[in-house]
Amino acid sequence: MTEWQKSGWRAKPRVQMPDYTDQAKLEAVEAQLSKYPPLVFAGEARKLKKELGAASRGEAFLLQGGDCAEAFDQFSANAIRDTFKVMLQMAMVLTFGAKVPVVKVGRMAGQFAKPRSAPTEVVDGVELPSYRGDIINELAFTPEARIPDPAKMLQAYTQAAATLNLLRAFSTGGYADVHQVHQWTLGFTDREESEKYRDMANRISDTLDFIKAAGVDSDRAHTLQTVDFYTSHESLLLEYEEALTRQDSTSGKWLAGSGHMIWIGDRTRQPDGAHVEFARGVLNPVGLKCGPTTTAEDLKVLMSKLNPDNEAGKLTLIARFGAGKVGEHLPRLIKAVAEEGANVTWVCDPMHGNTIKSSTGYKTRPFDSVLREVRDFFAVHNAEGTVPGGVHFEMTGQDVTECTGGVRAVSEENLSDRYHTACDPRLNASQSLELAFLVAEELTARREAQLSAKAG
Ligand code: PEP
Ligand code: CO
Repeated sequence: MTEWQKSGWRAKPRVQMPDYTDQAKLEAVEAQLSKYPPLVFAGEARKLKKELGAASRGEAFLLQGGDCAEAFDQFSANAIRDTFKVMLQMAMVLTFGAKVPVVKVGRMAGQFAKPRSAPTEVVDGVELPSYRGDIINELAFTPEARIPDPAKMLQAYTQAAATLNLLRAFSTGGYADVHQVHQWTLGFTDREESEKYRDMANRISDTLDFIKAAGVDSDRAHTLQTVDFYTSHESLLLEYEEALTRQDSTSGKWLAGSGHMIWIGDRTRQPDGAHVEFARGVLNPVGLKCGPTTTAEDLKVLMSKLNPDNEAGKLTLIARFGAGKVGEHLPRLIKAVAEEGANVTWVCDPMHGNTIKSSTGYKTRPFDSVLREVRDFFAVHNAEGTVPGGVHFEMTGQDVTECTGGVRAVSEENLSDRYHTACDPRLNASQSLELAFLVAEELTARREAQLSAKAG
Protein backbone atom coordinates (compact mmCIF):
# COMPACT_ATOMS: atom_id res chain seq x y z
CA MET A 1 0.00 0.00 0.00
CA THR A 2 1.19 3.52 -0.74
CA GLU A 3 2.75 5.72 1.94
CA TRP A 4 0.04 7.51 3.94
CA GLN A 5 -0.22 11.27 4.20
CA LYS A 6 -2.75 13.21 6.21
CA SER A 7 -3.79 15.05 3.03
CA GLY A 8 -3.86 11.90 0.87
CA TRP A 9 -7.68 11.74 1.03
CA ARG A 10 -7.82 14.84 -1.20
CA ALA A 11 -6.87 12.75 -4.24
CA LYS A 12 -9.71 10.26 -3.64
CA PRO A 13 -13.39 10.42 -4.54
CA ARG A 14 -15.35 12.04 -1.74
CA VAL A 15 -19.02 11.90 -0.84
CA GLN A 16 -21.13 13.65 1.81
CA MET A 17 -18.74 16.59 2.10
CA PRO A 18 -19.60 20.25 1.44
CA ASP A 19 -18.40 22.23 -1.57
CA TYR A 20 -17.07 25.36 0.07
CA THR A 21 -17.45 28.35 -2.20
CA ASP A 22 -14.94 30.64 -0.49
CA GLN A 23 -11.62 28.82 -1.02
CA ALA A 24 -9.50 31.56 0.57
CA LYS A 25 -11.58 31.50 3.74
CA LEU A 26 -11.40 27.70 3.88
CA GLU A 27 -7.62 27.75 3.62
CA ALA A 28 -7.33 30.43 6.30
CA VAL A 29 -9.46 28.35 8.69
CA GLU A 30 -7.46 25.18 7.98
CA ALA A 31 -4.20 27.08 8.61
CA GLN A 32 -5.54 28.39 11.90
CA LEU A 33 -6.86 25.01 13.10
CA SER A 34 -3.54 23.38 12.22
CA LYS A 35 -1.85 25.62 14.79
CA TYR A 36 -4.30 24.85 17.59
CA PRO A 37 -3.50 22.14 20.17
CA PRO A 38 -4.92 18.68 19.53
CA LEU A 39 -7.84 17.78 21.81
CA VAL A 40 -6.51 14.35 22.78
CA PHE A 41 -3.12 12.71 23.15
CA ALA A 42 -1.66 9.60 21.57
CA GLY A 43 -1.26 7.76 24.87
CA GLU A 44 -4.99 8.08 25.54
CA ALA A 45 -5.90 6.72 22.11
CA ARG A 46 -3.54 3.78 22.69
CA LYS A 47 -5.10 3.08 26.07
CA LEU A 48 -8.57 3.06 24.54
CA LYS A 49 -7.34 0.72 21.79
CA LYS A 50 -6.10 -1.68 24.44
CA GLU A 51 -9.43 -1.57 26.25
CA LEU A 52 -11.33 -2.18 23.00
CA GLY A 53 -9.02 -5.13 22.40
CA ALA A 54 -10.20 -6.51 25.74
CA ALA A 55 -13.80 -5.96 24.58
CA SER A 56 -13.10 -7.99 21.42
CA ARG A 57 -12.25 -10.96 23.68
CA GLY A 58 -15.18 -10.50 26.07
CA GLU A 59 -12.90 -9.14 28.79
CA ALA A 60 -14.52 -5.69 28.65
CA PHE A 61 -17.71 -4.21 27.17
CA LEU A 62 -18.04 -0.97 25.20
CA LEU A 63 -20.73 1.59 25.95
CA GLN A 64 -20.67 4.27 23.25
CA GLY A 65 -23.36 6.93 23.30
CA GLY A 66 -24.42 10.53 22.90
CA ASP A 67 -26.18 12.89 20.54
CA CYS A 68 -26.79 12.13 16.90
CA ALA A 69 -25.47 15.62 16.27
CA GLU A 70 -24.05 18.06 18.81
CA ALA A 71 -25.51 21.50 18.21
CA PHE A 72 -24.14 24.98 18.89
CA ASP A 73 -27.41 26.25 20.38
CA GLN A 74 -27.78 23.28 22.75
CA PHE A 75 -24.28 23.63 24.17
CA SER A 76 -24.49 23.85 27.97
CA ALA A 77 -22.85 22.46 31.07
CA ASN A 78 -26.13 20.85 32.14
CA ALA A 79 -26.57 18.98 28.86
CA ILE A 80 -23.02 17.61 29.02
CA ARG A 81 -23.41 16.72 32.70
CA ASP A 82 -26.72 14.93 32.18
CA THR A 83 -25.45 12.75 29.32
CA PHE A 84 -22.27 11.95 31.25
CA LYS A 85 -24.36 11.11 34.31
CA VAL A 86 -26.73 8.70 32.56
CA MET A 87 -23.80 7.02 30.79
CA LEU A 88 -22.16 6.37 34.17
CA GLN A 89 -25.39 4.87 35.48
CA MET A 90 -25.69 2.67 32.42
CA ALA A 91 -22.04 1.63 32.70
CA MET A 92 -22.54 0.57 36.30
CA VAL A 93 -25.59 -1.54 35.48
CA LEU A 94 -23.75 -3.09 32.51
CA THR A 95 -20.68 -3.82 34.64
CA PHE A 96 -22.92 -5.68 37.03
CA GLY A 97 -24.40 -7.74 34.20
CA ALA A 98 -21.18 -8.39 32.30
CA LYS A 99 -18.85 -8.75 35.30
CA VAL A 100 -16.15 -7.07 33.22
CA PRO A 101 -15.09 -3.40 32.97
CA VAL A 102 -17.25 -1.16 30.82
CA VAL A 103 -15.37 1.14 28.44
CA LYS A 104 -17.15 4.48 28.26
CA VAL A 105 -16.98 6.44 25.01
CA GLY A 106 -19.14 9.52 24.35
CA ARG A 107 -20.44 10.58 20.97
CA MET A 108 -19.28 13.94 22.23
CA ALA A 109 -16.76 16.75 21.79
CA GLY A 110 -16.67 16.52 18.00
CA GLN A 111 -19.88 14.84 16.76
CA PHE A 112 -20.93 17.76 14.55
CA ALA A 113 -20.92 16.69 10.88
CA LYS A 114 -23.82 14.67 9.42
CA PRO A 115 -24.16 12.54 6.29
CA ARG A 116 -27.61 12.94 4.73
CA SER A 117 -29.80 10.65 2.67
CA ALA A 118 -30.51 13.42 0.12
CA PRO A 119 -28.39 16.43 -0.95
CA THR A 120 -31.40 18.75 -0.89
CA GLU A 121 -34.58 19.15 1.13
CA VAL A 122 -37.96 20.37 -0.12
CA VAL A 123 -40.38 22.24 2.17
CA ASP A 124 -43.63 23.66 0.76
CA GLY A 125 -42.26 23.46 -2.76
CA VAL A 126 -39.00 25.23 -1.87
CA GLU A 127 -35.80 23.25 -2.43
CA LEU A 128 -32.63 24.02 -0.46
CA PRO A 129 -29.36 22.17 0.25
CA SER A 130 -29.68 19.77 3.20
CA TYR A 131 -28.52 20.66 6.69
CA ARG A 132 -25.18 18.86 7.30
CA GLY A 133 -24.49 19.61 10.94
CA ASP A 134 -23.49 22.78 12.79
CA ILE A 135 -19.83 22.43 11.79
CA ILE A 136 -20.91 22.91 8.14
CA ASN A 137 -24.15 24.93 7.81
CA GLU A 138 -27.29 25.85 9.75
CA LEU A 139 -30.59 24.09 10.39
CA ALA A 140 -32.75 27.16 9.59
CA PHE A 141 -34.57 26.71 6.29
CA THR A 142 -33.20 29.74 4.40
CA PRO A 143 -30.77 29.86 1.45
CA GLU A 144 -28.15 31.79 3.51
CA ALA A 145 -28.30 29.37 6.46
CA ARG A 146 -27.61 26.40 4.20
CA ILE A 147 -24.40 27.82 2.66
CA PRO A 148 -21.41 25.90 4.07
CA ASP A 149 -19.20 28.23 6.11
CA PRO A 150 -15.63 27.11 6.95
CA ALA A 151 -15.52 29.39 10.02
CA LYS A 152 -17.94 27.00 11.73
CA MET A 153 -15.04 24.58 12.14
CA LEU A 154 -13.44 27.03 14.58
CA GLN A 155 -16.61 27.24 16.64
CA ALA A 156 -16.89 23.44 16.64
CA TYR A 157 -13.29 23.16 17.85
CA THR A 158 -13.97 25.61 20.67
CA GLN A 159 -17.12 23.77 21.75
CA ALA A 160 -15.33 20.40 21.56
CA ALA A 161 -12.45 21.71 23.69
CA ALA A 162 -14.80 23.10 26.34
CA THR A 163 -16.88 19.91 26.35
CA LEU A 164 -13.82 17.74 26.79
CA ASN A 165 -12.54 19.98 29.54
CA LEU A 166 -15.77 19.56 31.49
CA LEU A 167 -15.85 15.79 30.90
CA ARG A 168 -12.31 15.50 32.23
CA ALA A 169 -13.31 17.53 35.31
CA PHE A 170 -16.40 15.38 35.95
CA SER A 171 -14.36 12.18 35.49
CA THR A 172 -11.83 12.95 38.19
CA GLY A 173 -13.36 15.66 40.37
CA GLY A 174 -15.61 13.49 42.57
CA TYR A 175 -18.77 13.60 40.43
CA ALA A 176 -18.24 10.04 39.18
CA ASP A 177 -18.15 8.44 42.66
CA VAL A 178 -19.67 4.99 42.40
CA HIS A 179 -21.99 5.46 45.41
CA GLN A 180 -23.39 8.65 44.00
CA VAL A 181 -23.95 7.02 40.61
CA HIS A 182 -25.87 4.22 42.27
CA GLN A 183 -28.01 6.66 44.27
CA TRP A 184 -29.16 8.22 40.98
CA THR A 185 -30.08 4.79 39.66
CA LEU A 186 -32.13 4.05 42.78
CA GLY A 187 -34.10 7.19 41.96
CA PHE A 188 -35.15 5.45 38.73
CA THR A 189 -35.89 2.00 40.17
CA ASP A 190 -37.83 3.46 43.13
CA ARG A 191 -40.55 4.54 40.71
CA GLU A 192 -43.49 2.22 40.43
CA GLU A 193 -43.27 1.78 36.67
CA SER A 194 -39.62 0.65 36.82
CA GLU A 195 -40.05 -1.76 39.69
CA LYS A 196 -39.07 -4.72 37.52
CA TYR A 197 -35.49 -3.39 37.60
CA ARG A 198 -35.47 -3.00 41.40
CA ASP A 199 -34.12 -6.48 42.06
CA MET A 200 -30.95 -5.88 40.08
CA ALA A 201 -30.52 -2.45 41.66
CA ASN A 202 -30.83 -4.03 45.12
CA ARG A 203 -28.18 -6.57 44.24
CA ILE A 204 -25.86 -3.74 43.21
CA SER A 205 -26.60 -2.04 46.57
CA ASP A 206 -25.65 -5.26 48.39
CA THR A 207 -22.40 -5.47 46.46
CA LEU A 208 -21.49 -1.89 47.32
CA ASP A 209 -22.31 -2.51 50.99
CA PHE A 210 -20.11 -5.60 50.91
CA ILE A 211 -17.08 -3.90 49.40
CA LYS A 212 -17.46 -1.10 51.94
CA ALA A 213 -17.62 -3.56 54.84
CA ALA A 214 -14.65 -5.47 53.46
CA GLY A 215 -12.61 -2.25 53.43
CA VAL A 216 -12.00 -2.43 49.68
CA ASP A 217 -13.81 0.83 49.38
CA SER A 218 -11.36 2.93 51.36
CA ASP A 219 -8.24 1.16 50.09
CA ARG A 220 -9.10 1.63 46.48
CA ALA A 221 -11.16 4.75 46.84
CA HIS A 222 -9.44 6.37 43.91
CA THR A 223 -10.66 3.67 41.53
CA LEU A 224 -14.21 4.03 42.78
CA GLN A 225 -14.27 7.81 42.57
CA THR A 226 -12.84 8.39 39.11
CA VAL A 227 -13.53 7.02 35.65
CA ASP A 228 -11.93 6.97 32.23
CA PHE A 229 -14.21 8.63 29.75
CA TYR A 230 -13.30 8.84 26.07
CA THR A 231 -14.67 10.84 23.13
CA SER A 232 -15.60 9.80 19.59
CA HIS A 233 -17.31 11.09 16.47
CA GLU A 234 -17.86 10.31 12.81
CA SER A 235 -14.79 11.40 10.87
CA LEU A 236 -16.79 13.02 8.08
CA LEU A 237 -15.49 16.55 7.56
CA LEU A 238 -11.98 15.69 6.47
CA GLU A 239 -10.68 19.26 6.29
CA TYR A 240 -11.34 19.49 10.05
CA GLU A 241 -9.84 16.06 10.73
CA GLU A 242 -6.70 16.71 8.70
CA ALA A 243 -6.10 20.07 10.36
CA LEU A 244 -6.15 18.43 13.81
CA THR A 245 -3.92 15.48 12.83
CA ARG A 246 -0.54 15.50 14.57
CA GLN A 247 2.56 13.35 14.53
CA ASP A 248 3.15 11.54 17.82
CA SER A 249 6.66 12.38 18.94
CA THR A 250 7.32 9.04 20.66
CA SER A 251 6.25 6.68 17.86
CA GLY A 252 6.34 8.88 14.76
CA LYS A 253 2.79 7.71 14.02
CA TRP A 254 -0.12 10.03 13.20
CA LEU A 255 -2.88 10.85 15.65
CA ALA A 256 -6.33 12.17 14.73
CA GLY A 257 -6.26 14.84 17.45
CA SER A 258 -10.00 15.57 17.17
CA GLY A 259 -11.10 12.74 19.49
CA HIS A 260 -9.98 9.43 20.98
CA MET A 261 -11.90 7.25 18.54
CA ILE A 262 -13.24 8.11 15.09
CA TRP A 263 -15.63 6.12 12.93
CA ILE A 264 -16.59 5.82 9.28
CA GLY A 265 -20.31 6.05 8.53
CA ASP A 266 -22.44 3.66 6.52
CA ARG A 267 -22.58 6.17 3.62
CA THR A 268 -18.84 6.92 3.41
CA ARG A 269 -17.23 3.49 3.68
CA GLN A 270 -16.24 3.12 -0.01
CA PRO A 271 -12.98 1.10 0.08
CA ASP A 272 -11.31 3.50 -2.39
CA GLY A 273 -12.94 6.66 -1.07
CA ALA A 274 -11.60 9.66 0.81
CA HIS A 275 -12.91 8.67 4.25
CA VAL A 276 -11.27 5.25 4.30
CA GLU A 277 -8.06 6.79 2.97
CA PHE A 278 -7.92 9.25 5.88
CA ALA A 279 -8.81 6.74 8.59
CA ARG A 280 -6.35 4.05 7.47
CA GLY A 281 -3.34 6.14 8.49
CA VAL A 282 -4.13 7.26 12.03
CA LEU A 283 -3.13 5.42 15.19
CA ASN A 284 -6.54 5.94 16.89
CA PRO A 285 -9.04 3.12 17.25
CA VAL A 286 -11.38 3.29 14.26
CA GLY A 287 -15.04 2.29 14.01
CA LEU A 288 -16.74 1.12 10.82
CA LYS A 289 -20.51 1.13 10.47
CA CYS A 290 -21.77 -2.06 8.82
CA GLY A 291 -25.26 -1.97 7.29
CA PRO A 292 -27.43 -4.25 5.17
CA THR A 293 -25.54 -3.18 2.02
CA THR A 294 -22.07 -4.04 3.40
CA THR A 295 -20.75 -6.93 1.31
CA ALA A 296 -18.39 -9.58 2.65
CA GLU A 297 -15.98 -8.66 -0.14
CA ASP A 298 -15.89 -4.96 0.81
CA LEU A 299 -15.57 -5.82 4.47
CA LYS A 300 -12.49 -7.92 3.79
CA VAL A 301 -10.81 -5.08 1.88
CA LEU A 302 -11.80 -2.59 4.57
CA MET A 303 -10.44 -4.76 7.38
CA SER A 304 -7.06 -5.09 5.68
CA LYS A 305 -6.90 -1.35 4.94
CA LEU A 306 -8.10 -0.13 8.32
CA ASN A 307 -6.22 -2.67 10.42
CA PRO A 308 -3.20 -3.74 8.35
CA ASP A 309 -1.33 -5.14 11.37
CA ASN A 310 -4.42 -6.96 12.64
CA GLU A 311 -4.12 -5.30 16.07
CA ALA A 312 -6.77 -6.13 18.67
CA GLY A 313 -8.87 -3.07 19.51
CA LYS A 314 -7.87 -1.16 16.38
CA LEU A 315 -11.08 -1.87 14.44
CA THR A 316 -14.60 -1.84 15.84
CA LEU A 317 -17.38 -3.08 13.56
CA ILE A 318 -20.59 -1.27 14.44
CA ALA A 319 -23.49 -3.38 13.18
CA ARG A 320 -26.65 -1.40 12.30
CA PHE A 321 -29.01 -3.57 10.31
CA GLY A 322 -32.44 -2.95 11.82
CA ALA A 323 -34.63 -5.18 14.00
CA GLY A 324 -35.48 -8.39 12.19
CA LYS A 325 -32.55 -8.07 9.77
CA VAL A 326 -29.66 -9.04 12.03
CA GLY A 327 -30.07 -12.77 11.36
CA GLU A 328 -29.82 -12.16 7.64
CA HIS A 329 -26.68 -10.00 7.69
CA LEU A 330 -24.57 -10.49 10.81
CA PRO A 331 -23.72 -14.18 10.25
CA ARG A 332 -22.39 -13.53 6.73
CA LEU A 333 -20.14 -10.73 8.00
CA ILE A 334 -18.99 -12.78 10.99
CA LYS A 335 -18.02 -15.46 8.45
CA ALA A 336 -16.00 -12.92 6.43
CA VAL A 337 -14.15 -11.89 9.61
CA ALA A 338 -13.40 -15.55 10.43
CA GLU A 339 -12.16 -16.25 6.89
CA GLU A 340 -9.64 -13.44 7.24
CA GLY A 341 -8.67 -14.35 10.80
CA ALA A 342 -9.26 -10.66 11.52
CA ASN A 343 -9.31 -9.11 14.98
CA VAL A 344 -12.41 -6.96 15.36
CA THR A 345 -14.64 -5.74 18.18
CA TRP A 346 -18.32 -6.29 17.36
CA VAL A 347 -20.66 -3.58 18.60
CA CYS A 348 -24.43 -3.17 18.12
CA ASP A 349 -25.93 0.16 16.98
CA PRO A 350 -29.69 -0.54 17.26
CA MET A 351 -30.61 3.03 16.31
CA HIS A 352 -29.83 3.68 12.65
CA GLY A 353 -31.65 0.68 11.18
CA ASN A 354 -34.81 1.47 13.14
CA THR A 355 -35.77 5.00 12.17
CA ILE A 356 -39.38 5.43 11.06
CA LYS A 357 -41.76 8.28 10.40
CA SER A 358 -44.49 8.44 13.03
CA SER A 359 -48.15 9.03 12.21
CA THR A 360 -47.63 12.56 13.58
CA GLY A 361 -44.83 13.23 11.06
CA TYR A 362 -41.86 13.03 13.43
CA LYS A 363 -38.81 10.87 12.74
CA THR A 364 -38.78 8.38 15.61
CA ARG A 365 -37.50 5.00 16.80
CA PRO A 366 -39.66 2.59 18.78
CA PHE A 367 -37.98 1.39 21.99
CA ASP A 368 -39.14 -2.15 21.22
CA SER A 369 -37.35 -2.22 17.85
CA VAL A 370 -34.17 -0.92 19.47
CA LEU A 371 -34.35 -3.62 22.11
CA ARG A 372 -35.18 -6.29 19.56
CA GLU A 373 -32.10 -5.48 17.47
CA VAL A 374 -29.88 -5.71 20.58
CA ARG A 375 -31.39 -9.09 21.47
CA ASP A 376 -30.92 -10.36 17.90
CA PHE A 377 -27.31 -9.21 18.02
CA PHE A 378 -26.68 -11.18 21.22
CA ALA A 379 -28.53 -14.24 19.89
CA VAL A 380 -26.41 -14.38 16.73
CA HIS A 381 -23.15 -14.03 18.67
CA ASN A 382 -24.26 -16.66 21.17
CA ALA A 383 -25.07 -19.02 18.32
CA GLU A 384 -21.87 -18.30 16.37
CA GLY A 385 -19.59 -18.51 19.39
CA THR A 386 -18.37 -14.95 18.79
CA VAL A 387 -18.22 -12.02 21.17
CA PRO A 388 -20.80 -9.20 21.48
CA GLY A 389 -18.32 -6.48 22.45
CA GLY A 390 -20.57 -3.52 23.13
CA VAL A 391 -23.43 -1.20 22.28
CA HIS A 392 -23.70 2.16 20.52
CA PHE A 393 -26.68 4.42 21.26
CA GLU A 394 -28.02 7.81 20.26
CA MET A 395 -29.10 9.15 23.62
CA THR A 396 -29.20 12.14 25.88
CA GLY A 397 -29.46 12.73 29.62
CA GLN A 398 -32.28 15.17 28.97
CA ASP A 399 -35.97 14.28 29.30
CA VAL A 400 -36.76 14.53 25.59
CA THR A 401 -39.60 12.84 23.69
CA GLU A 402 -37.96 11.63 20.48
CA CYS A 403 -38.13 7.80 20.63
CA THR A 404 -41.43 6.10 21.47
CA GLY A 405 -41.97 3.49 24.19
CA GLY A 406 -40.18 2.58 27.41
CA VAL A 407 -41.62 2.17 30.92
CA ARG A 408 -42.39 5.88 31.14
CA ALA A 409 -44.07 5.44 27.79
CA VAL A 410 -43.63 8.10 25.15
CA SER A 411 -46.45 7.83 22.61
CA GLU A 412 -46.54 9.11 19.02
CA GLU A 413 -48.78 11.94 20.27
CA ASN A 414 -46.16 12.90 22.91
CA LEU A 415 -43.36 13.31 20.35
CA SER A 416 -44.08 17.01 19.83
CA ASP A 417 -43.76 17.78 23.58
CA ARG A 418 -39.95 17.91 23.81
CA TYR A 419 -38.51 16.99 20.42
CA HIS A 420 -35.14 18.80 20.38
CA THR A 421 -32.72 16.75 18.31
CA ALA A 422 -30.82 18.50 15.52
CA CYS A 423 -30.85 15.25 13.57
CA ASP A 424 -31.92 11.69 14.57
CA PRO A 425 -34.21 10.84 17.53
CA ARG A 426 -32.39 9.97 20.78
CA LEU A 427 -33.29 7.79 23.73
CA ASN A 428 -34.05 9.96 26.77
CA ALA A 429 -32.46 9.41 30.19
CA SER A 430 -35.13 6.96 31.38
CA GLN A 431 -35.14 4.96 28.13
CA SER A 432 -31.32 4.81 28.13
CA LEU A 433 -31.12 3.47 31.66
CA GLU A 434 -33.92 0.99 31.03
CA LEU A 435 -32.09 -0.29 27.97
CA ALA A 436 -28.94 -0.71 30.06
CA PHE A 437 -30.88 -2.93 32.50
CA LEU A 438 -32.17 -5.02 29.60
CA VAL A 439 -28.72 -5.34 28.01
CA ALA A 440 -27.36 -6.30 31.45
CA GLU A 441 -29.92 -9.13 31.52
CA GLU A 442 -28.62 -10.35 28.15
CA LEU A 443 -25.05 -10.24 29.46
CA THR A 444 -26.00 -12.11 32.61
CA ALA A 445 -27.81 -14.82 30.64
CA ARG A 446 -24.82 -15.20 28.32
CA ARG A 447 -22.39 -15.51 31.23
CA GLU A 448 -24.58 -18.03 33.02
CA ALA A 449 -24.91 -20.12 29.84
CA GLN A 450 -21.12 -20.12 29.44
CA LEU A 451 -20.60 -21.10 33.07
CA SER A 452 -23.08 -23.96 32.87
CA ALA A 453 -21.55 -25.17 29.57
CA LYS A 454 -18.18 -25.26 31.35
CA ALA A 455 -19.58 -27.10 34.35
CA GLY A 456 -21.53 -29.54 32.18
C1 PEP B 1 -24.76 8.20 12.89
O1 PEP B 1 -24.12 7.42 13.63
O2 PEP B 1 -25.27 9.25 13.28
C2 PEP B 1 -24.99 7.77 11.48
C3 PEP B 1 -25.27 8.67 10.53
O3 PEP B 1 -24.92 6.44 11.32
P1 PEP B 1 -24.83 5.54 10.00
O4 PEP B 1 -23.60 6.00 9.27
O5 PEP B 1 -24.69 4.17 10.57
O6 PEP B 1 -26.10 5.74 9.24
CO1 CO C 1 -27.66 9.42 13.82
